[in-house]
Amino acid sequence: MTTLRSIRLFVIRHRSLLISTVSIGLIFMIVWPSTDSRHNSKQTKKKVLYNLMEETKGVPKHVKDCTIEYANAHKLQQDHPCLLDIIRRQYLNKPSPSDVPLLLDYPNVKDPSAGQVTAVLRLLRNLTNGFFIESGAADGESFSNTLFLEREMNWTGLLVEPEPKSFQNLAKRNRKSWTLQNCLSLEKYPTEVSFDKTEITGKIIGSKVSQSELDNGKLANVQCFPLYSILLAHGQNWVDFFSLDVEGHELQVLKTIPWHKVNITLIAVEWEHVEEGYYAIVDYMKEQGYVNFGRIATPYARDVVFIKDFLDDLRFDYVDYDE
Ligand SMILES: *[C@@H]1O[C@H](CO)[C@@H](O)[C@H](O)[C@H]1NC(C)=O
Ligand SMILES: *[C@@H]1O[C@H](CO)[C@@H](O)[C@H](O)[C@H]1NC(C)=O
Ligand SMILES: *[C@@H]1O[C@H](CO)[C@@H](O)[C@H](O)[C@H]1NC(C)=O
Repeated sequence: MTTLRSIRLFVIRHRSLLISTVSIGLIFMIVWPSTDSRHNSKQTKKKVLYNLMEETKGVPKHVKDCTIEYANAHKLQQDHPCLLDIIRRQYLNKPSPSDVPLLLDYPNVKDPSAGQVTAVLRLLRNLTNGFFIESGAADGESFSNTLFLEREMNWTGLLVEPEPKSFQNLAKRNRKSWTLQNCLSLEKYPTEVSFDKTEITGKIIGSKVSQSELDNGKLANVQCFPLYSILLAHGQNWVDFFSLDVEGHELQVLKTIPWHKVNITLIAVEWEHVEEGYYAIVDYMKEQGYVNFGRIATPYARDVVFIKDFLDDLRFDYVDYDE
């Protein structure tokens, strides 16, 4: 008999005596962890508090001529009042009123997603009245990861889609969510970038380009905002489900998020085109206190699902004796 087994037998035989001793011990550990374990958990977690001001130290809070050009040129911090005001006034489009019917190409298809919605509802136990962000939202119907949630489960949210043709169709659907014809910024400040206009697979190419380069019709200059700025402009600091599919720039978008300021429960990230690779996303999200729940891999989905570990701050290092 191994030592481990004999300990287990001892535990079973002397349960009642042990429970009181162990519970006192546990309380002690939770309330008063040794300096060693505190030190270790700090080292392994590597939580870096994120400074929203770091990009733009010195820009005054009150800007007299607050324009998008000013915001871009000064790389305004994510929560700058000028930036939030611009998003609110010029970019956020209101949801269609609840009595206006949806305009769908295939109204009988309840869930056009490639499996994401099933996973979301399962993990969130059929949550109703939730809040989502979907980027890219495409035309708001084809492969939509949020239509079912909005239509059947009374969710609402933010639909983000920079590609002009797709957005035109999205705007006509009468979705009950806010829409933005913008990209999520790859930096912690607003940026104007060139965008490949190919429908469905459109993506950010690089910096803003000149008129002559726009003339060939393949590129557009589009305005990007940090995800956190959009949420703040909307007055929202929690999200139940974030669907992120931006054709390769997913990790860069995730890295703009000040995780200690916003609560995102569930995140589905398309990993397939991410330049840094699948494990770079997984490692990064783990550092932010997320559990990798698994992948949704169907013919049309290549998503990895992360769920916020709400017990993360309570965890302390322990040894798993079974290993
Ligand atoms: C969620 O809804 C589905 C379909 O209506 C049902 O089969 C499932 O049991 C529900 N799950 C929970 C956790 O309530
Ligand atoms: C959604 O809201 C409508 C109207 O308030 C209500 O009748 C319906 O039961 C709700 N659906 C769910 C799934 O909660
Ligand atoms: C996120 O949610 C948790 C649990 O509900 C709460 O304790 C925490 O304060 C929230 N954080 C933010 C930034 O809202």
